[in-house]
Amino acid sequence: MSFRLQPTPPARPNRCQLFGPGSNTKLFAKMAASAADVINLDLEDSVAPNDKDVARANVIEAINTVDWGTKTLSVRINSLDTPYWYRDVVDLLEQASDRLDQIMIPKVGCAEDVYAVDALVSAIETAKGRKKRIAFEVIIESAAGIAHVEAIAASSPRLQAMSLGAADFAASMGMQTTGIGGTQENYYMLREGAKYWSDPWHWAQTAIVAACRTHGILPVDGPFGDFSDDEGYRAQARRSATLGMVGKWAIHPKQIGLANEVFTPSEEAVAEAREILAAMETAKANGEGATVYKGRLVDIASIKQAEVIVRQSEMIAG
Ligand code: COA
Ligand code: MG
Repeated sequence: MSFRLQPTPPARPNRCQLFGPGSNTKLFAKMAASAADVINLDLEDSVAPNDKDVARANVIEAINTVDWGTKTLSVRINSLDTPYWYRDVVDLLEQASDRLDQIMIPKVGCAEDVYAVDALVSAIETAKGRKKRIAFEVIIESAAGIAHVEAIAASSPRLQAMSLGAADFAASMGMQTTGIGGTQENYYMLREGAKYWSDPWHWAQTAIVAACRTHGILPVDGPFGDFSDDEGYRAQARRSATLGMVGKWAIHPKQIGLANEVFTPSEEAVAEAREILAAMETAKANGEGATVYKGRLVDIASIKQAEVIVRQSEMIAG
């Protein structure tokens, strides 16, 4: 065990990140009125190349005029391999009000990608006397991104969240699928002639969670493309929550309630966690480090597990 304490991630609800194209202005008010904790106005892949300039202007106007309530407001800029990203950063930092909380950097492949954006953002913040420091979130969605995930998680004090972007990730890895997340038909084990499906996203998710938890960043699961498949979304989100992720993207309003349902600890889970904490208090009073709760062992590690659930529930309740 390292003598260094694990840093705590930002204490903000991040159960659902709702996306909408910056070119589709009629969605902005609906997004603001939604139950998503985080709003991601998109300048990247949901905006066609010819619409980049108008989308950027739309998004700045929406940041400055729409009532976003208490949501975390984030803009996804274009990736560093395009000619658009610097203009995204310059216009946002020069023209958007302090209501803008965060910039999302897609397709991050190394820590220096984040450093480059940080340098530009820092210079404009100082030049313009901006009061609020802009936070960053990144998407891991390439072979390079996952290979350098720990360095990326450590890349900037601005970094607050990291998502897995399944579609670009699959393409970059050369995976044989066109699905965006979820079960993959050809990823199965055989036992006595029966197929058992496994989870091809699991290893990338755990790599992201470990990097994030090491550096006090929120790990988030990205998009689930088939928005007619509620059960598929739920299953993917439940696996992510079990692995330690705190939320998931919504690319359609249907998915917001599903994400909030899965990433809000249930009343039963919170009640059980509180009972475990109470059982351990009694054990401690009796000079014991371990005890039995509902026929199973609980010990000092169980306190930490139970506290994760109680803390998350209290933070969401505000
Ligand atoms: N945020 C808020 N509201 C949304 C929305 C979003 N992302 N997407 C759709 N809606 C609204 C629609 O405007 C419609 O509202 P209405 O009932 O008032 O008319 C309602 O939800 C139902 O929409 P629906 O007709 O089912 O979908 P659509 O055909 O209008 O749009 C998509 C489907 C996928 C094109 C659209 O949801 C979308 O653009 N999603 C975001 C894509 C994105 O940002 N991708 C980048 C990240 S991967
Ligand atoms: Mg992508």
